[in-house]
Amino acid sequence: MTRTDHAARIESLLGAMTLDEKIGQLNMLTADLAVTGPGMPADYMAELKKGRLGSMLNLFGAPLMRQVQKAAVEETRLGIPLFFGFDVVHGHRTVFPIPLAEAGAFDPALWEKTARIAAVEAAADGLTLTFAPMLDVSRDPRWGRISESAGEDPWLTARLAEAKVRGFQGADLAAADAVAATAKHFAGYGAVMAGREYAQVDVSERTFHEVYLPPFRAAVGAGTAAIMPAFNDLAGIPLTAHRGLLRDLLRQRWGFEGVLISDYNAIAELIAHGVAADLVEAAALALKAGVDIDMMATAYTCGLPAALERGLVAMADIDACVRRVLALKAALGLFDDPYRMKAPAMTPERMAEHRAVAREAARRSIVLLQNRNDRLPVAAPPPRVAVLGPLADVADEMLGPWSGAGRGEEMVSYAAGLRAAWPASRIDVAKGVEAEGGDAGGIAPALDLARAADLVVLCLGELRFMSGEAGSRAKPGLPGLQPELARAVLDLGKPAVVLLSSGRPLMAPWLFERAEAVLACWYLGSEAGHAVADVVTGRWNPSARLAVTWPVDAGQIPIFYARLPTGRPLDPAFRYSSKYLDMPNEPLFPFGHGLSYTRFAYSNLRVSPATLRAGGALAIEVDVANAGAMAGEETVLLFVRDPVASVSRPVLELKGVAKAFLRPGETRTVRLSLACDALAVLDGALAPRLEPGTIEIFVGPAARADALLEAAVAIAA
Ligand code: NOJ
Repeated sequence: MTRTDHAARIESLLGAMTLDEKIGQLNMLTADLAVTGPGMPADYMAELKKGRLGSMLNLFGAPLMRQVQKAAVEETRLGIPLFFGFDVVHGHRTVFPIPLAEAGAFDPALWEKTARIAAVEAAADGLTLTFAPMLDVSRDPRWGRISESAGEDPWLTARLAEAKVRGFQGADLAAADAVAATAKHFAGYGAVMAGREYAQVDVSERTFHEVYLPPFRAAVGAGTAAIMPAFNDLAGIPLTAHRGLLRDLLRQRWGFEGVLISDYNAIAELIAHGVAADLVEAAALALKAGVDIDMMATAYTCGLPAALERGLVAMADIDACVRRVLALKAALGLFDDPYRMKAPAMTPERMAEHRAVAREAARRSIVLLQNRNDRLPVAAPPPRVAVLGPLADVADEMLGPWSGAGRGEEMVSYAAGLRAAWPASRIDVAKGVEAEGGDAGGIAPALDLARAADLVVLCLGELRFMSGEAGSRAKPGLPGLQPELARAVLDLGKPAVVLLSSGRPLMAPWLFERAEAVLACWYLGSEAGHAVADVVTGRWNPSARLAVTWPVDAGQIPIFYARLPTGRPLDPAFRYSSKYLDMPNEPLFPFGHGLSYTRFAYSNLRVSPATLRAGGALAIEVDVANAGAMAGEETVLLFVRDPVASVSRPVLELKGVAKAFLRPGETRTVRLSLACDALAVLDGALAPRLEPGTIEIFVGPAARADALLEAAVAIAA
């Protein structure tokens, strides 16, 4: 059916709908989430049959959904199908690494591939929309949702946005294996004050436009079907009611024609924000801002009829929302195939292929933070291994904060992965301590195992719900008695490797002083244990990088590489320079940090032409050599700096990434390209403007001055 046919169908439906039915299309309710799986509450079923429900969230499992869809199609007056949304954030049944980890692969092709698989599995489970990708630039590790983000960089997050939207939606939303993407949370949520969940946001307009908006612009450019306004306010205006951003910017300036779906209960929370007196006002504010779907606040069903009567909204406002919701359903092909009967079945062979990708994604997300004395890899199986710590053998924890339809028992724990890699080794497992709490009773027996072992693998970190939504931590270090366990084990002086699981950079500088080798394992998903074993044994040479700066201490937060220069740069000999009295300025590990088992050497940076003009592009070449003994993948980062501009510019800004896979001794020329227009600066009116003058170009592995090669180019007047 063509777009025109759909438009005609939508108009004729609209003409036939009662007010109740119209508002029903804007109403999204959640399934019951029982331990045994989702269920459809009876009262919602009754609402559905009256045409007072347009979409569901958290309902998955094809048989149940077919039954609910049947009620919508066959038992409502107009037979309009529902769509079904779910948080498929890092995988559905096959669980991939958390976004913060996967971002560290710096690889759009991988990001797209995992989103595609997630979509295929979700669609097979009856789902038609995912509340992903999450695109909140996050520069505060106290905020638990940093785990769901691609980290601190707007350029990298924008590339992830495009890849994820492409992966989820595929070439055609109506295909039976496509799901609609929802770019969230629009916008600025990553800047919640002091990292506290659901707190206020107050950033400058410039930072908002330069840092927080670009990923959403990229998602709109990639055709995201939906966008979710954030819970937070921005300088006093909750995003759920933000006309300037939702209507004027998103819809009018950016031309976004898709659906705006509120966050959970967010419309009702406009009352708590102090901008609406009751549900009627709240509903009117959100609707006027252009929020099409009310997730779980029932503000539209309860408030819109009265808002109409009071003249706070017009029927045309409601109709505009209904049109967009019906257009999404049409684009998803739901009017033609409400049950999405053609969704491919998830055969065991197919699931095995998905797991192979999960293993690839997981090992490409593990960051080798530290490797003193070349402790890793452990090439020969040690006769006896002690796998210790609260995360040593807990498959369930590998799921991470958003588990989709993942099942804990299907995840591979670290101990299970090491057992599979070293079948002839004796592998002893002990927690030593719980992740939280004060019981030290298990430390002594764990130490006995460590003493008897040839290798200790110490599995420390956070449990999965210590990050993610509502997972803010004021002191994001190692919780409970884990420091005691770690110190005691590492003091034995045995060969030891630390596997750190977390949804954020964890602040435990003492650990890095004592441990020779530390791997950031985040939450790696279904194949966690196998992927870790691949890296520990050297079957995979670690290649991931930090997509977020790793602070020494929470006192340095917010800390990120793209800071502005100060008039008083750090000078240890000068008191009145920008520094702390009790802490270094530098992080423990910079953005882009991540070691390899080999060594890469950069040389011969060339840029051309020497002078750039609007519309032109810079060609950048650099020679990268593998100067070590193992083949490996190097990620080459391209940064720029505008040293003199009308406004102060960041000391470094990421503008490009390239990859090189090199055998030992091999050298390759890596090529990058940079569009001149990408160097524009936002002027006083926040419009992009190219400013003539010098641009410094930096190429290297990380945002660390001493690791970068430098060149310069001029922008012509
Ligand atoms: C609240 C979260 O903020 C949002 O990211 C999520 O999509 C919804 N709940 C639905 O689960």
